[in-house]
Amino acid sequence: MSFFGFGTKRILGLDIGSFALKIVELKAKKKGKEVVHELVALGYEPVPYQSIVEGSIMDSAAVAESIQHIFYESKVKTNNVSFGVSGSSVIVKKIEVQKLSPSEMHEHILWEARPHIPFTPEEVNIDYEILDQSDDQPNMASVILAAVKKEKLNDYLNVFDISQKKVEMVDLESFAVLNSVLKNYEMYKDRTIAIINIGASITNVVISKRGSPVFVRDIALGGNQFTDLIQKELNLKYEKAESVKKGRQVDGVSPAAVKPVVNLIFGELKNEVKKTFEFYRSNTMEGRIDNILLSGGTANLDSILDLFSQEFDIPFEIVNPFNNIEINEKKFDLNFISEMAPVFNVAMGLALRAVGDEK
Ligand SMILES: Nc1ncnc2c1ncn2[C@@H]1O[C@H](COP(=O)(O)OP(=O)(O)OP(=O)(O)O)[C@@H](O)[C@H]1O
Ligand SMILES: [Mg+2]
Repeated sequence: MSFFGFGTKRILGLDIGSFALKIVELKAKKKGKEVVHELVALGYEPVPYQSIVEGSIMDSAAVAESIQHIFYESKVKTNNVSFGVSGSSVIVKKIEVQKLSPSEMHEHILWEARPHIPFTPEEVNIDYEILDQSDDQPNMASVILAAVKKEKLNDYLNVFDISQKKVEMVDLESFAVLNSVLKNYEMYKDRTIAIINIGASITNVVISKRGSPVFVRDIALGGNQFTDLIQKELNLKYEKAESVKKGRQVDGVSPAAVKPVVNLIFGELKNEVKKTFEFYRSNTMEGRIDNILLSGGTANLDSILDLFSQEFDIPFEIVNPFNNIEINEKKFDLNFISEMAPVFNVAMGLALRAVGDEK
């Protein structure tokens, strides 16, 4: 098992969100010299309320049941899974290490990683990827470290055990969204981009320069905060607040009353994103971000484009993770896919990595 890696067998991407599970299964085909990906299976399944909280599994039996259900409903062709982790039990850091011979590099990186990870080596699984060598120091290499708490990983593995699925690969959600964007939009491989994946409880921010992740942060804010405040301020039940947030008509609720509540939470999210950008800028010599890409369920918020354009001076767009994927119109509901597209960004990135593509 690895955070990174290349699969050879059939594996699907399963995004275990606290709001919904998402499945993407792909098939890689050769078309001339190019490899194209075709959609084999797609699934979406809401998760029972509070069975996952901020990336931690609270009710294993309920999550396992949802996994079995989504597998059954989406008519997948394999039981082999790649899933992603995120949140406070995950640490991602970019470090510079001295370049040694390939045989010495592994031990060297693990040693250099120690001071950067605030847990004992026994508490975490560590993985890393060696990026391009340092621009200005030829004897140094940039390494992106990823550590996840074993306790958290074991909770997930336990759920897969109960639901009788085989875990072939574990990735970071942030790396999955980046992988999906780069595979679907070739042009972003040459730029510095920030992907903001706004889910229900977590917003993953990943900054990538010329196709490699250089900065990752998970913010504990998302769609839940919008719903919670709408519920409180307008005195509504959860389901009604969710509907109102999604722009649906609800008796006795005027859209004018919803707007300031949405704006307030967006303000908090925006502040955190701006802080993240500032941190990135102050830690790198060249902090320019060329494009912002938005995904996750909360990217479907009606006012999201207006809100982003008011606050950020950087061109942005909503990610379509099916942009470069072949879809058989007879097998899949294109309306559903186009409506839900940004929600599948994590699952798509997991699936793309799993079919043996480059990162
Ligand atoms: N049309 C919409 N307008 C506003 N919000 C929406 C819309 N559709 C979905 N959402 C919100 O998106 C969130 C779910 O997004 P997503 O599926 O990306 O989260 P998740 O991956 O399950 O959660 P997390 O990763 O944060 O644990 C929910 O808060 C939901 O209310
Ligand atoms: Mg998510």
